[in-house]
Formats: sequence, C-alpha cells, structure tokens
Amino acid sequence: MCGIVGYIGGRDAQPILLQSLRRLEYRGYDSCGIAVLASTIKVHKDVGRVEQLEKALPKNKGKLGIGHTRWATHGKPSKSNAHPHIDCSGKIAVVHNGVIDNFQQLRDKLTQEGHRFRSDTDSEVMPHLIESYYQGDLEQAVRRALVDVHGSYSLIVLAANHKELLVARNESPLVVGVGDGENFVASDVPALLDYTDRVIYLEDGDVGVITDDEIRLFNQAGEVRRETNVIPWTMEDAQKGGYDHFMLKEIHEQPRVIRDTLGGYLSAIEPEVDLGLESTEFEDILLLACGTSYHAGLVGRYLLEKVARIPVRVEIASEFNHSNAVLGETWVIGITQSGETADLLGAIKKAKQMGCKTLAITNCVGSSATRIADQTFYIRAQPEIGVAATKSFIAQLIALYLLALSQAKMDIRSREGLIRELRLLPDKVQLILDGEDGISKYGKYLSTYDNAFFVARGINFPVALEGALKLKEISYIHAEAYPAGELKHGPFALLTPDTPVIAIAAGDDTYEAMLTNIKEIKARESPVIALADEADEDIDKFVDYVIRVPSVAPIFSPVINSVVLQLLAYYAAKERGCSIDMPRNLAKSVTVK
Ligand code: M6R
Repeated sequence: MCGIVGYIGGRDAQPILLQSLRRLEYRGYDSCGIAVLASTIKVHKDVGRVEQLEKALPKNKGKLGIGHTRWATHGKPSKSNAHPHIDCSGKIAVVHNGVIDNFQQLRDKLTQEGHRFRSDTDSEVMPHLIESYYQGDLEQAVRRALVDVHGSYSLIVLAANHKELLVARNESPLVVGVGDGENFVASDVPALLDYTDRVIYLEDGDVGVITDDEIRLFNQAGEVRRETNVIPWTMEDAQKGGYDHFMLKEIHEQPRVIRDTLGGYLSAIEPEVDLGLESTEFEDILLLACGTSYHAGLVGRYLLEKVARIPVRVEIASEFNHSNAVLGETWVIGITQSGETADLLGAIKKAKQMGCKTLAITNCVGSSATRIADQTFYIRAQPEIGVAATKSFIAQLIALYLLALSQAKMDIRSREGLIRELRLLPDKVQLILDGEDGISKYGKYLSTYDNAFFVARGINFPVALEGALKLKEISYIHAEAYPAGELKHGPFALLTPDTPVIAIAAGDDTYEAMLTNIKEIKARESPVIALADEADEDIDKFVDYVIRVPSVAPIFSPVINSVVLQLLAYYAAKERGCSIDMPRNLAKSVTVK
C-alpha cells in the first residue's frame, strides 16, 4: 500500500530514488513521484509507473530527495493526488504511506487558516500541518504536527534549507538503510538492497532525524537506540532470473522453499520437529489471516484437528477486529507473508489485549507482526515480489504441517510416516513443474471463458478457494469456489456450458462424494477439468479433461494441487495479456485497514 523512499548523501538523489521506487512498485503502482532538493524543491509526479515518470524527467541535481509509489486510498489515481505533496510555500514536501483518519477535520481547520489544497488525499494535510507549526526548526514542526494526527503513517519530510530528512512511523512500516556518508529510507528492505544490507527498523511512535552521517531516533521517552540488522539476502534473490514474470519464478522456487522451510525446523536425520518456540498452555487455537494466508489457515485447521486433535477456529482478521469473539486459554496464531497487513496486526493486538498468547507465522524478518506477537515462526520463502502469493502460501502450509506435527497426538509410527512423506514433497512438486507444458494448455483453455467454478471437498476446499483467488486476481476471470456438496444449494443456477468447473478429485475419503458431485455438474453440461491422482483409473469416464498429479498421502494433497492451480491461473492470465506481477487495483502488502 504505497511505497516511500528517501535519500541523503553525496550522490545525486534522483537515480537512487527512481531505482528504489522500482523496487517498491509491488506495493502500489497507480501513480508515482519524486521531490529533489536542488536550490529549491523540484517535484515531479504523474499517474502510471516509475518507468514512465523517468522518461519525462529532467536531470535534477540534488543530494537529498524523497519518492513515492501510490496505491490509491483517498482520491483516484491522478497527477494531483500523486505524492510528494507540498505546502503552500513550496518549501516542505512529504511522502506518506498509511491513512490519516482525522484528515478532514485537519483539512477544514487548515483551509480556514488560509491553506490551499490541491489534491483529494488525506496525505496532503501533512505538509500544510507541518508548515503551520514551522518556525525555522523542522524537527519541532514535525513533532508538533504529529500530535494532531490520528491514524497510520510512515512518512518522510524534505524541506528547503534543511540538510536532513525527517521520518516518522506509526502502524506503517519504515526502514532506514545505513550507508557510509549517506543514508536511505524506505517502506521495505528491497528498496535499499542495491545500496546497503544494513537496516534499522523503526518502531511505532518513532520520529527520526536523518543526515548523511547520522541517524537519530526518538520516541516519547526521548532518544532511543535501535539495533542495526544485516539482511541475509541479496537483490539477486529478488530478481526474475530469466523467467517472464516474478510469479512464474516464484512458482518454480517452491521445491527449494519447501526444503528450506523444512530444513530450518526438521532434523535431517531424526524424525524430530523443533520449532524453537517456548511452550504455551492452551485449550484451543485461533488462526487469523487475510487473503491467501487465510486459505493457508483453513488448511491448517484440518491439519491441526487431524494430527494434533486440537479444536481450531479460523477467522479473517478484518472480521475478527469487529467481532465479539470470546477467547479463553486460546493460542492465537496470525499468518502473514508480509508481516505488515494492517488488519492482521490489529487482530493480533486485540488478541493480546484479551490476554491470549500470540504467534506470528511470517516470511519477513523484522516485520511489524514479529514485534507485536509474543513469538515468531519464520517461513523461509525469501522475498516474494509477485503480488499474487504463491511460494509464501506453500511455505505457510509447510509451517502448518510442522506445527501440527510438533503437537501431534498419534502413534509414533504414523507420525514418522507423515514426516517421511513431508520430506518427499519437494520432489513431488518438481514433478508438477516438469509437467508445466501440459498444465499450460488448460490455462489457455480457461482464458477463453468469463466465469469459472472451483470445487473440492475436505482439506482441498481451501485449495479451491485459493485457486479461484489466483485466477480472478491475475486473469480477471470471475471465479467462485465452493465445497462440492454446496453447489446444489444455490450456485447450480449459474452452471452452463460456458462455465468451466475445476474439480479437485483427491484420492481421500471424499472421493466417492466428489464423483457424485461431478456427475451432477456434468448433467448441467459444464465442462469439467479434474485434478486427479496419477493412479486414478476411473476419473476419465466422468470429466472432460484430467490433470494428473503425483500420488501423495491425502493430507499433503493441498500442496500438490495448489501448485497446479497456480500454473493454471498463470497461463490463463498470460494468454489474456494481463499484468501478472502487478494486477490492477492490488498491492503486495495491504497496510491500510
Ligand atoms: O502479507 P499477508 O500474507 O498478510 O497478505 C494477506 C493478503 O493480502 C495476501 O495473502 C493476498 O491475498 C495475496 N497477495 C493474494 O495473492
């Protein structure tokens, strides 16, 4: 949800800002802009991507600057709504990520005082508010302005006549990149990695004064020291590596991601799982997440209930935040790739206030979720750039298998059998990737339709939900997912020969019931593509097309089937010429509620 960047040092700021913004485009990409301090502040902004902005830019000289790539919340994507925003004097420029809840009230007050606004955004109140308190001391003006602001923000302030950047964070991520004789600021680490691997994560309530050789951070208690972290991955880890899209690269990384996530917690020799978590007393588990991570949570419920015999609920974080949930000795587990999803962070905070122990399952070291939750369990997917979550979903599933196995209530032989099967998953996923061409033709076939259904039963129902989400978000084909038994309770009305149905016919105890449902669907003449076990000899009689998947123990079928559905969505979207890594209206990390 918007990416912000800042630079101060001895080099020209403009190319650094543009490069950093390109790295952050996954956070939002409907418009962008930069401000560079030369003799005066030069602001350039427009709708569209960084590449377009760059083409239209004069070569500004200046060693200080800020930049922004936008995902619209207040006001449509337009040049005037793009950041940076400036005050009336043109001497204070601000980039902001987050939402200023009381912006209307502030805007009315500032307008009465004579400030003239040029945009529809909430963010524009910031430069005007700072201007209203400015009497020569930028730090004081920023601090005073923040007292009036309610909401979430990470912001960077640039002012004429000041050789410093002011930064502040509340409920939106902000990182300072530490250089030699230069410093960097950004919403997220990938923006910094071309320049430094040393970063400082700001905490909520922090205000910082950044010069080329000093980083001073303050909170309400006064000056604070924050640890400098060395990032263990490079920009190369986040490059396309010869693939057409990040999404395809990330799909292909999944065997490695499974191995890495298992390797971190599963002994190479013994069938022992060690998550490194302090033991927690609990009666039940509540899994909280959004989007794809929520689908991982739904699979997690099946796993934990089956393997660990623990009662589990799963809730969408944004709904939990408005619920009257009753929690007892509940272990609350938030699942989030980014660790920055505002709804999820709010939900973990609420659970903590209710006295629950909390755990974050996340991909991002140092993210907000890791600092809010009592404990953290890192998946090891490495940076995921494609907006559509793929490898992080598979890694979340692996984390949930490990969690379930760490709490297993079953005989030792069954548990060891599951661990043996788990170790085979990378090779099984590789088999699917090796058969990519066969799957791509069904993706191309789907691309010709406007609507599609996904059906499954049991542990694969969340996989159907995820398959439909992948298809709709990147190909814009309308897709619905249902438990197969539920279709006849309403959705059947939409089945026609123009509505292909993707049916997951897993070789588990739901198989017979699935076949019955598939026959019902075929009676409505909808084309059916089944995902079926390679050993299934019956399925061809009942469906139009079959995608064979490697045999695995039923409990692991979500991993296998999800990879097939990711490829289906990818090839449908590719055939339609869609913007696969940056689908319209979406952003990688949703840091607004
Ligand atoms: O970073 P998170 O896992 O908390 O993100 C939650 C959702 O926004 C995310 O899973 C989203 O649904 C996917 N990017 C869709 O592919």
